[in-house]
Amino acid sequence: MRVLIVYAHPNPNSFNHALVEHCQQGLIAAGHEVKLKDLYAENFDPVLRAEHLAELQTGVIPAKIQHEQAALLWAEGLVFIYPLWWFGRPAILKGWFDHVLTRGVAFDYSQQGVTGLLKHRRAAVIITAGGSQDYFKGIDAETLIHRPMTDGTLSYCGIPQVDQFIYYNVPTMSDAERHAILAQVQQLGREFDA
Ligand SMILES: Cc1cc2nc3c(=O)[nH]c(=O)nc-3n(C[C@H](O)[C@H](O)[C@H](O)COP(=O)(O)O)c2cc1C
Repeated sequence: MRVLIVYAHPNPNSFNHALVEHCQQGLIAAGHEVKLKDLYAENFDPVLRAEHLAELQTGVIPAKIQHEQAALLWAEGLVFIYPLWWFGRPAILKGWFDHVLTRGVAFDYSQQGVTGLLKHRRAAVIITAGGSQDYFKGIDAETLIHRPMTDGTLSYCGIPQVDQFIYYNVPTMSDAERHAILAQVQQLGREFDA
């Protein structure tokens, strides 16, 4: 399968970056063709300014965004890797969706409602968090975190299978725990199409 990894973390020495490397290794080992979109390294400008919104509303897609859409549409599978920031996606990733998931490319509206246009077979969303699993379960935060990426974005645009993996306590975990998660994510890459 052709798989695009979309990654949003500013630090190339971060745990998130190590997750990307391991996921990529697993995907390649399973024979997938992989491309990486490193939004910070590419200096993606996430702010949807008035002129961008006006362009979107007239159906004019700037060359820079067409390039992003070509990468998105090249893929048959998607992997998103990012840290949880204020219960949400880093702004650079949210802004990437704002610019790239345009009407007519990712979805369309009609009197009957919204139709998703993306043809990807599967998306995996890998998130790291500072909080503990008990804390998240206690306030039903997993649902809260899940919905913007599924109902609000990827399922909305037609992707039938969206799986979310949250790793907790990341800033305080031991090296052994980190290695175990990296191995899990490598395996996730290997079994992406299983
Ligand atoms: C701006 C910012 C906002 C954050 N918001 C949350 C949050 O809402 N919930 C949470 O559990 N952790 C939060 N964290 C902690 C990060 O999720 C955590 O440090 C990160 O996932 C660890 O991965 P890394 O070492 O690769 O950065 C936040 C961190 C930052 C910098």
